[in-house]
Amino acid sequence: MQERRIKKSAAIYTPLILMLYDWWVLGISNRFAWKCPTRSVLLPFFCRHVSVRHMDVGVGTGFYLANAKLKSGTEVTLLDLNRNSLHAAQARIRHMHPQSIQHDIMMPLPVGHRVFDSISLFYLLHCLPGNFSEKENVVINIKRQLSPDGVLFGATILGEDANHNRFGKKLMALYNRKGIFGNQSDTMQGLRAMLERNFRNVDIRQHGKVALFTARDAAVRYSHSK
Ligand SMILES: C[S@@+](CC[C@H](N)C(=O)[O-])C[C@H]1O[C@@H](n2cnc3c(N)ncnc32)[C@H](O)[C@@H]1O
Repeated sequence: MQERRIKKSAAIYTPLILMLYDWWVLGISNRFAWKCPTRSVLLPFFCRHVSVRHMDVGVGTGFYLANAKLKSGTEVTLLDLNRNSLHAAQARIRHMHPQSIQHDIMMPLPVGHRVFDSISLFYLLHCLPGNFSEKENVVINIKRQLSPDGVLFGATILGEDANHNRFGKKLMALYNRKGIFGNQSDTMQGLRAMLERNFRNVDIRQHGKVALFTARDAAVRYSHSK
């Protein structure tokens, strides 16, 4: 059942939905519902943390990679459960020759898979069902793929406690009912606790109804090196 709900969070991204995605989600919804504009807040945050050895998890249309003006020679890996999303993002950044992995990030990546200096996780956590403890596998699986100095950074729309406006409440109710979102009980405290269970150095701030986070120094590496 839980597995089916996770798949549901990716299944919505058909080629048609992806054609409308940037306009509706990154344009209208981010500005008017979630109060966290894409070009002035989320894109600069992405640009600040992306490195030359980067993996994007939950790629959507590949908007951030396509607009980030990456350094030449940047190696990009795209990971998504949905093949349509992988195709859309890959087509958009074809010139970077990205590697694509079709994979459910709730499951560990194959052992021996390469590591990255930065991994982005934008707008995926709020799509997954359950509370942050149930979503923790995402972070556990990602931290295994980070180099020792690597950074996980991302953004996620907060739940009902965030005091959404009328437009936001309407979208939240509809998306949670349809299984497109699973974020009703997502809070800043829950996100912080989940990240701090896995990383020594966590930074979170809220912009509008969105939490923006960075996490470094995976806790497991410290326990291994002691
Ligand atoms: C809301 S879109 C976010 C797109 C982009 N990162 C952005 O911020 O605009 C969520 C993406 O996560 C993918 N996704 C959902 N559940 C997933 C899972 N369990 N594993 C990997 N990808 C998943 C979806 O297919 C979709 O491409």
